[in-house]
Amino acid sequence: MTAHLSEVSAAAAVTPAARGRFFVFEGIDGSGKSTVARMMHERMMAADRRSVLTAEPTDSWIGDMVRRGNEEASSPFTETLLYVADRAEHTAQIGQWMADGNHVLCDRYVGSTIAYQGVTLRPHLGNTAPEWLRTVNAPFTLRPDATFLMVIDPEDAMERLGSRPGREKFEKLDFLRQVDEEYRRLAEQDGYVLIDASLPLEEVAEAVWAIVKDAPQ
Ligand code: TYD
Repeated sequence: MTAHLSEVSAAAAVTPAARGRFFVFEGIDGSGKSTVARMMHERMMAADRRSVLTAEPTDSWIGDMVRRGNEEASSPFTETLLYVADRAEHTAQIGQWMADGNHVLCDRYVGSTIAYQGVTLRPHLGNTAPEWLRTVNAPFTLRPDATFLMVIDPEDAMERLGSRPGREKFEKLDFLRQVDEEYRRLAEQDGYVLIDASLPLEEVAEAVWAIVKDAPQ
């Protein structure tokens, strides 16, 4: 009995930090998600919360491969599988950060692959592309506590990016419109938190902070 009690108190003495929460920021290029993720990290730090700001593609060696693949890969499957490999490594790291008691703020995650590669693989896989991508990612994706989707009209997003008129802009706009559609479908399926990213930045930040700030620590 005594031995049992002392085991209990020893266990209590080494209680690990509470597991952190996992927040993901998604949206098309120019939606402002990276800025909002950074602002949330700064607010967390200012409030003395333990927070890690991270992003995909990562800045690791495999993230470098992703960027190289974007320039050099001739098959959209190569590009896709590089994003997925990058995520497999990243997810292990995210799990460790959370186990160590950090909240993790992640700029792009599996939703980016389902939305963007859902478009690039559609000519090869048809309507099964998004579900195929979900299945491929499933063994090494963590379920976020919340995914924020920054919703903005693709034309406004491109304007923010300072795109010039011309054929390239037209092609990119057409692509982002399709990605936007995939994202909206996903948001419905997976219960993303929709954020109106056309509002002034401070208002966008407030809407996201209202949820992030409640993460217990
Ligand atoms: P982005 O967040 O725009 O990074 P940065 O602004 O720092 O360059 O991401 C780069 C591009 O990668 C973006 O166009 C979306 C694309 N992407 C995918 O197509 N699939 C993915 O799984 C990820 C993570 C990104």
